[in-house]
Amino acid sequence: MTVPLEGFHCVKHALRFAPHLVHDVRVRSLEQARALADRLAPDVLDALLSRATVAEVGHHTGVEADGEVPEPDLSVLHARTAPLVLLDAPRSPGNAGAVVRVAAAAGCSGVACTGTLDPWHPTVLRGSAGLHYALPVLHVAASDVRGPVVVLDADGDPAAPLPADAVLVVGSERGGVGAELRARADVVLALPMRPGVSSLNLATSVAAALYRGR
Ligand SMILES: C[S@@+](CC[C@H](N)C(=O)[O-])C[C@H]1O[C@@H](n2cnc3c(N)ncnc32)[C@H](O)[C@@H]1O
Repeated sequence: MTVPLEGFHCVKHALRFAPHLVHDVRVRSLEQARALADRLAPDVLDALLSRATVAEVGHHTGVEADGEVPEPDLSVLHARTAPLVLLDAPRSPGNAGAVVRVAAAAGCSGVACTGTLDPWHPTVLRGSAGLHYALPVLHVAASDVRGPVVVLDADGDPAAPLPADAVLVVGSERGGVGAELRARADVVLALPMRPGVSSLNLATSVAAALYRGR
């Protein structure tokens, strides 16, 4: 299955982390693509230009491609040396994409997602700027995941630890973490908020938890 890689940054990340999964690179102009890569990502310049064909491109950066969806790496569900972020039935593709982006930046072992949202939906991929190619991103059932469960919830303990092999569970925009994963929590981690603020955005809370204490 392929997904659209929309824009220079998305294509850049896919080329950087999984060049073998990038197909049919299209650019509006070779000169424009060369100038962009030269300025922003010289490490992918050769890979970009050697594959590029000139075509009509809708994206404002003038760069698009097709990306192959990788076979899911299921090993991260059972053992890991950096946290696995588990999104419990997220609704917003933009939020899910932002989580993939920060999880990749923080060196997480993967992002898994329960519920009905396809984590490889083009809108999720747009939100991650193509960083889906930097770590495993997969759809799971909650029961597939093993390891210490750290639930993120505003009613938890601000001092709760986040072990390196944790499953960091984040709730949905409306309902929070569901009963099944809440019941499996080893600890519940809260990010302190000023009185009157009811919650952080889902992706913001993942970022704060992952970068806490760094
Ligand atoms: C927008 S919030 C969900 C709010 C929802 N109304 C609820 O009842 O939990 C989405 C998720 O972000 C995380 N989150 C948001 N604010 C948090 C905080 N202050 N501390 C810990 N986690 C938080 C939780 O995992 C939460 O389920």
